[in-house]
Amino acid sequence: MKPVFIVSTDSDEAKKISEIFSKEQKVAIIESSNRLRAILNASAMVILDHSFYAKYGLEYFKGLLKNPHPPVLMIAPPGDTQVMVDIMEIGIRFIPKVPDYQKLLGLIVNNTLSQVQEKEQLKQNVLSLQLRVEELEKAGSEQKDRQDGESYPETKPHEVKEKILDEIIFVFKRGKIELPTLPQLGVKFQEMMNKGANIREIGKLLKQDMAISSKLISVSNSVYYRGVAENKNLRQAVNRLGLTDTKRYVDTICNRSLYATENKKFLRLLERLWEHSLACAYASQILDESLALGLEVDAFTLGLLHDIGKLLLLQIIGELQKSNKIGDNIESSELLHTINTHHGKFGAALLKKWKFSENFVRAASYHNNLKAADYLSKDLLMVHFGNLMVKSMGFCMSDQEEIQPEEIDLEDTESARSLGLNAVMIDEFKQKVSGYMNELTGLLT
Ligand SMILES: [Fe+2]
Repeated sequence: MKPVFIVSTDSDEAKKISEIFSKEQKVAIIESSNRLRAILNASAMVILDHSFYAKYGLEYFKGLLKNPHPPVLMIAPPGDTQVMVDIMEIGIRFIPKVPDYQKLLGLIVNNTLSQVQEKEQLKQNVLSLQLRVEELEKAGSEQKDRQDGESYPETKPHEVKEKILDEIIFVFKRGKIELPTLPQLGVKFQEMMNKGANIREIGKLLKQDMAISSKLISVSNSVYYRGVAENKNLRQAVNRLGLTDTKRYVDTICNRSLYATENKKFLRLLERLWEHSLACAYASQILDESLALGLEVDAFTLGLLHDIGKLLLLQIIGELQKSNKIGDNIESSELLHTINTHHGKFGAALLKKWKFSENFVRAASYHNNLKAADYLSKDLLMVHFGNLMVKSMGFCMSDQEEIQPEEIDLEDTESARSLGLNAVMIDEFKQKVSGYMNELTGLLT
């Protein structure tokens, strides 16, 4: 986030104002009109002390704010109505400098900054989606100009890979792909947790969804959580699981619904992808706990969402087939190749759109290509290793009836080396993941 500028000719006053925010926010004090003009757009917002306005006057600010600029808020002495009218006309907001004005100022600045951040995020999302399209265009074959409803020639197998990409780009550009929305119950849960809601309040929210409530009760009675008595209602279940684990399972159950499909051909692929994602979520959680990685974000959720780009691409391709935009004769090896090559970028774009933090976006982007990452954070290494480990255990996306575990020398991977893993530890992690998967997968489906 860019800094907040505090603009004043009175340096004592400027310091006092800056102390209100300097703990959570970068601030810079500006005392000269030339400097302010030169760097105005490097700020997230400007807090203007009336001393500065009194010195430079209305005309200066009219000139300064002619072009797009960050929000400007003036602390004005109460009673000078003409000044307030003048500044409002040129788009400066104000708060009166009453005793104890600092509280009001803190509130308004926080509000303004979150609006600025939201706008910035939106801009980023649009940019990142545009970037994806450009990258895909480069990777795809020559773009053909096509119109709606036009029929497509029969596809030859060697053209399929390009054709899928071509088609995705085409519908993407027309805004015809509806990106899935993040399940709302999980979002509300997070909002309530951010506000410091207690178990009783969370229980009230979850009660509205019978399916989730009953699954949470089953999970709380599984061997991992089982207490002396069997839980019979949601309140008991949430009490036993605690808020963190309840949140994880709510996310998991909500997420599960995204893996549904009407395209029978993709059913097996999506089921396997779901199991792979869940196994990777457990693997990440186990790695985080065993190695005490102290991550900023929840390891389980990071693992659960790392392949969301594969889900998105499968859903898009399924839709395209349903509307006959792509033939049914796609070779599955071509399909999987396309998905494997491009899922990182699509996943990253979707997670950005869902407003997940940079850690999630990076895990989705680089978990199968560490070389492309600008730096290797612990959470990225964790997901990289978790992903490979569960593949080696047979939790991998494949449409073969028989599951073929991938042969991977886990010890000889960059993430294992960086995290300091050895064969004994890896074996123990695998056993733990198997335990969780055997016991809990059925209860979450
Ligand atoms: Fe994966």
